Amino acid sequence: MTQIAEDAQEAERSHPRLSVGSEEHKRLFCSVLLDTFDPYRPAVIDWPTLRADAHQRLVGLPIWDVAVETEENAGTRMQAMADATADPLVKKALALNAFEERRHKDVLGHMMRFYGIALKGEIPAQPLPNPLWAFLRTGYGECFDSFFAFGLFEMARRSQFFPPELVAVFEPVIQEEARHNLFFVNWVAYTRANLAWPRRFGFVVQCLAALAVQIGKRMNTAKSVDGDNFTRKGNESLGIDLAPRRFLALCLAENDRRLAGYDPRLLRPRIMPAVARLAMRLLPRRGAPL
Ligand SMILES: [Fe+2]
Ligand SMILES: [Fe+2]
Repeated sequence: MTQIAEDAQEAERSHPRLSVGSEEHKRLFCSVLLDTFDPYRPAVIDWPTLRADAHQRLVGLPIWDVAVETEENAGTRMQAMADATADPLVKKALALNAFEERRHKDVLGHMMRFYGIALKGEIPAQPLPNPLWAFLRTGYGECFDSFFAFGLFEMARRSQFFPPELVAVFEPVIQEEARHNLFFVNWVAYTRANLAWPRRFGFVVQCLAALAVQIGKRMNTAKSVDGDNFTRKGNESLGIDLAPRRFLALCLAENDRRLAGYDPRLLRPRIMPAVARLAMRLLPRRGAPL
């Protein structure tokens, strides 16, 4: 058993879980987000000068338009949910989450200007007819994306795909996504527990639908990528074996590590770790050790 798993079990014994949906639960999941705020400022980030090959690799990553659009949408949707929320503490935490998403977009903007990366097109404005539906989709989307981002970021760090100074700049951005996931799953559980039937049933249906939409979107993306080609190119660019089983193991370990420091009484994201564990059982064992 890993040290992290042993620590988690020990914490479980010494800190029994809260009653989900209680006032205490709400105070805890909001205060964990609010109290762990990192006040870094994108405008004063000291961007490291990159060697020509590292600069080429950074500029060549085909992710910047999607990354900026994702952060823009996340900020707008989380702010809309904050505006639609009556409870002052939950509203404050949601507004901070929205602020952090806008700040992620600012970090990307400063980085792209510094390294001369241009957006390929305008970011289309997304309609926001229903703040709850938009928030649920964003929350589940972040749970999916950041689970894989944790593993990819660690691979890039180990392989020195990015120099350590650049990894250090993005470290708080990645960690903020772990905090957001923690907040989101607790917000969902708290909200569900406080709804009376039949509104609770309607909420669960919306959660499942949001989850299904995000799974569908990512399956479409996966289908559009040639698996072998992706693996070969990934190996070439990261200089590390991207065997799916080992990659999932790294994502799981990083997910556990990034969430280990927060109050053990809070619920943890469970869907992606469960899917990854199931996939790992089905996938062949191959590839070099990470
Ligand atoms: Fe973000
Ligand atoms: Fe986020």
